[in-house]
Amino acid sequence: MAGLEPRIAALTTELLDDVDGDLELVSQLAHPLPAIVIAELLGVPASDRDLFRKWAEVLTTDDIGFTAKDENGDQARRFEKLARDVQPMVDYLKRHANERRARPRQDLLTELVRAEVDGERLTDGQVVNFATLLLLAGHITTTMLLGNTVLCLDEHPEQAARIRADRPLPPGAIEESLRLRPPFTLLARVTKAEVELGGQVIPAGQMVLLWPRAANRDPRVFARPDEFDPTRDPNPHLSFGRGVHSVWARRWPGWRAGSR
Ligand code: HEM
Repeated sequence: MAGLEPRIAALTTELLDDVDGDLELVSQLAHPLPAIVIAELLGVPASDRDLFRKWAEVLTTDDIGFTAKDENGDQARRFEKLARDVQPMVDYLKRHANERRARPRQDLLTELVRAEVDGERLTDGQVVNFATLLLLAGHITTTMLLGNTVLCLDEHPEQAARIRADRPLPPGAIEESLRLRPPFTLLARVTKAEVELGGQVIPAGQMVLLWPRAANRDPRVFARPDEFDPTRDPNPHLSFGRGVHSVWARRWPGWRAGSR
């Protein structure tokens, strides 16, 4: 990931150079940047950037959540429509995956078509699903993080002034933005066994909806929970969920298993 940094900085400069006058942060920077980075990571040609932006928009419309329904209130039909809308992307990624099988390159799609699990290669469908997951999971989250961080700085001008005086942006400011305004506000899990949480017994096999934004403001864990404090340390927010994706789980595995 660190190796991508110079390229991401160059793309950021390129996008900012295109701005004429006022910057509309989301449409001109925060939205296109992650879509382009992920498209390049996968290895699709830069000339297809606009296609990727379009598909990212289809995948990230705000009505595809757990409760999405079509105009007649039908959930299944809403998802069928979504599947139809993303079919061109599925076909596109399949075509590229097949090309990489025939002519490997130095990109993530090549790694995916080469990958083996228990001696078996991934199917076209699995490669496409993973590439779509990357586009979806990596795109809107990063767009929101960039926009939310500017919102946090806007709401806390004294902290913004401190950060400006002490550039570059300290990692603590990003962590604090993630804590206060997590891009994923709702996560879902299914219980494997009966569990008691906050005095409530939840049976096995139950879907549980989790709110990281509330957990991140738990006053038992975070002093002055509603304050934006870029120097907060430790800052064990749950905005990356748990597991390998979470900085905190990697840094302090014991903390996860133990205290919360
Ligand atoms: C601010 C940025 C990001 C945030 C806050 C974020 C947050 C999360 C969270 C909370 C989950 C877990 C979902 C769950 O447990 O139900 C997750 C999973 C995932 N994220 Fe991110 N993410 C970010 C950026 C990215 C980026 C840049 C990528 C890739 C380019 C990415 C790829 C993934 C993938 C592949 C998963 C699924 C992992 C799995 O199922 O094992 N994320 N992300």
